[in-house]
Amino acid sequence: MAKNKTIFFCKECGHESAKWLGQCPGCRQWDTFVEEPVSKKIINTRAKSVSEPQLLQEIVAGVETRMESGIGELDRVLGGGIVKGSLVLVGGDPGIGKSTLLLQMCREITNKMSKVLYISGEESLNQIKMRANRLGVFNGELLLLCETDLDLIENVIHKHQPDIVVIDSIQTIFKEELSSAPGSVSQVREATGALMRIAKSNGITIFIIGHVTKEGVVAGPRVLEHMVDTVLYFEGDNYASYRVLRAVKNRFGSTNEIGVFEMRGDGLAEVKNPSEYMLKGRPEGEAGSVVAASIEGTRPILVEVQALICRTNFNMPRRTAAGTDYNRVNLLMAVLEKRLGLQLSDCDAYVNVAGGMRITEPAIDLAVIYAILSSHKNIALNNRIVLFGEVGLTGEVRAVNMAEQRVAEAAKMGFEVCILPQANKDTIKTKGIQLIGIRNIGELLGLLNQH
Ligand code: TYD
Ligand code: MG
Repeated sequence: MAKNKTIFFCKECGHESAKWLGQCPGCRQWDTFVEEPVSKKIINTRAKSVSEPQLLQEIVAGVETRMESGIGELDRVLGGGIVKGSLVLVGGDPGIGKSTLLLQMCREITNKMSKVLYISGEESLNQIKMRANRLGVFNGELLLLCETDLDLIENVIHKHQPDIVVIDSIQTIFKEELSSAPGSVSQVREATGALMRIAKSNGITIFIIGHVTKEGVVAGPRVLEHMVDTVLYFEGDNYASYRVLRAVKNRFGSTNEIGVFEMRGDGLAEVKNPSEYMLKGRPEGEAGSVVAASIEGTRPILVEVQALICRTNFNMPRRTAAGTDYNRVNLLMAVLEKRLGLQLSDCDAYVNVAGGMRITEPAIDLAVIYAILSSHKNIALNNRIVLFGEVGLTGEVRAVNMAEQRVAEAAKMGFEVCILPQANKDTIKTKGIQLIGIRNIGELLGLLNQH
């Protein structure tokens, strides 16, 4: 008797293997392999016509038609609107607000005369209606369907010919021919492939929601990244109400853009001025709190960096870094000890980027160092100061990119002094803010005693 064949997949990145492996050779994650039956090959009944290549010069390019989604921050991340016939994956942790964001998008689009089909495999019509009621008034032609069978979904799409389809979520959709369970790597891939064909052949834009999974056998959205046109991730802190929408891949635009939202009682609100939002509630005249000019994508954002340095009660001092890179903070503290002779080895150090934002660019080094110095020496800083700059291992302050935008944002937000790398200072044209260029962290210490 023929044995039922199975194959092992990594549920993080989709790597295939004939046997189970503890660590995935593709993405280096542990314990991510799941066993799935090998699917019957679906025989393509379409008669194979002869394929002929064409000369590039002879191909007439169609115009890329875009449509505004009605949510400015979403359009920005998509690269200037929704591209007709594209397949967009929206990933994120469960409960972060993916369904809310796309339902809000549906409302805006349907109000502009387009027809949208929202297919949910997770919630009942009643639940969606209740969410819609929280979001406000829906006037347009928004069709709702609760279905998980891909063949039936395909029929409905053909029958109603919507402009936009939302699939919530890809992990609930299944194709009957495949013997593996919904959410498995083969099901999720097959469903995405089918949706891609529907999108391209009918010129329908399809949004797929994919949950980022921590455990269990459900395949994560990373398995699909290579198959779709655009990948957006919706991120946020469990404790903060702001959310960031980030493009990870975009065949129709840059991946540098982010959109910032705030989760409110009546849905997601766009945050047009993230700096103002991030600096809300900042303490005045307290030691250990400074403002850094950071860049997210192409957008300058001012964030508050805090440090608390105090004598330790343990043999091993405690060090934590929230919202920034832990190893980087350790490195900067080592530079402070070595170059400025600061005694930090018997101190606990807590560094925090307030507001729940995660900043990993080295341009906040200078702010982290200034906050540590300020807390260690217990000197309160002038709170009209902004800093940015990368710090090297010899304590030198190095130039960073997009300095002009950072200074301009600081000036716009009413800051009076900007401490920046000397190498950047000469290139700045922004007026109305005092610039202090420094070459090494020794000069920074000198400034701390003045301000
Ligand atoms: P949801 O869109 O269901 O998340 P996802 O689809 O990513 O799993 O959002 C769930 C959370 O959002 C839920 O915890 C409640 C919150 N929420 C609000 O705070 N305000 C609102 O208006 C809505 C609709 C949801
Ligand atoms: Mg949802």
